[in-house]
Amino acid sequence: MVNLEKLGKSTVYFKSSEKMSELEDNSIDVIITSPPYNRGKVYSDDSGGIYNDKKSKSEYYQLLTNVWTECFRVLKPEGTFFLNIGDSANDQGLSEEVVNLTSNVGFFRIQTIIWVKSLLGKGHYTPSGGNRRLNNVWESIFLLVKNKKKYRLYPKAIGIPYADRSNIGRYSEENLRDPGNVWLIPYLQTTGSTIKKGHEAPFPIELPYKCIQLTNAETVLDPFAGTGSTLAAANSLGKVSFGYEKYPRKNIIRNTVLNAQPRLTPTILLPHLELTASILTKLCQKLDYDFLKESCTFKFTKKEQVELEILKETLKELDLNLPILNRYFSDCSNLEKFEDRKLDDFF
Ligand SMILES: C[S@@+](CC[C@H](N)C(=O)[O-])C[C@H]1O[C@@H](n2cnc3c(N)ncnc32)[C@H](O)[C@@H]1O
Repeated sequence: MVNLEKLGKSTVYFKSSEKMSELEDNSIDVIITSPPYNRGKVYSDDSGGIYNDKKSKSEYYQLLTNVWTECFRVLKPEGTFFLNIGDSANDQGLSEEVVNLTSNVGFFRIQTIIWVKSLLGKGHYTPSGGNRRLNNVWESIFLLVKNKKKYRLYPKAIGIPYADRSNIGRYSEENLRDPGNVWLIPYLQTTGSTIKKGHEAPFPIELPYKCIQLTNAETVLDPFAGTGSTLAAANSLGKVSFGYEKYPRKNIIRNTVLNAQPRLTPTILLPHLELTASILTKLCQKLDYDFLKESCTFKFTKKEQVELEILKETLKELDLNLPILNRYFSDCSNLEKFEDRKLDDFF
């Protein structure tokens, strides 16, 4: 009997994904996974067994080739495959070798998305550079397909606002545009704590969450499910998902799949941050000035009103709260009516 568990709309099979006979041919919309890295990373399962992922190169290639072959079989012709793997500072080139194995079984390589795990000190990464290299703070997400003509992406489903709103209308009617192929998703978990929990390399839920949104997929598969991050993302989007994990920590998987929610911040643009800082400064000066004058009157030009709207959205994305702005916008369905407001109204 197959060892499995159903968690919401997810089914996790506790076995090797080298044979995914539970899944029918051409049945999956999107595959999102991060394979074992074959770098001596240590995993452990519920029975206390320790699994070291270091195999000989030929065994490792054979394992991945078997799994990629099964992935090709179960993916729909219009489906997509996001393969996440990073190089370490001291071991460059593995990611290319792993993605090349997917070409051998029939996948086409469309694009590489760069997942930035840490930027300017925000986000965790494993220090491995020493004094000969800089640390690696990004990983690849290879976008692969079975049929180059049949797949579709929906970039605006993960769209970001225009930094320069004068572009609205020129390229699009809505304030959303393609976010590009560099995704900043700060890596929050530290290696030490996740090893103790049994898995060293979970990716953030926001990563599979974006991939599912980008493809508008209904059925999701992760053949190396680990802690269940992909299934958690699928569950939180109400999609059907399947995972395979040979060395499971079932409680961790249960908890992740059923409870973990994506933190959808920050998706912020750096230009917006700069703009925000300058708007905030100007706004504060203005308030101070009004206070000093005791005129108690807000006067915002149309341009300032638009800037305030950007500021509000930016602060929302950063999970910051500026009560005065919330008040302004909640009262103010038609901005034009509110060009002149009494300062007292906002506190
Ligand atoms: C890099 S981790 C995946 C982490 C996962 N993305 C997450 O967010 O938790 C790779 C996983 O593959 C599992 N694994 C290794 N060999 C396997 C096999 N043959 N079949 C299924 N899972 C396997 C390991 O136990 C490990 O949990």
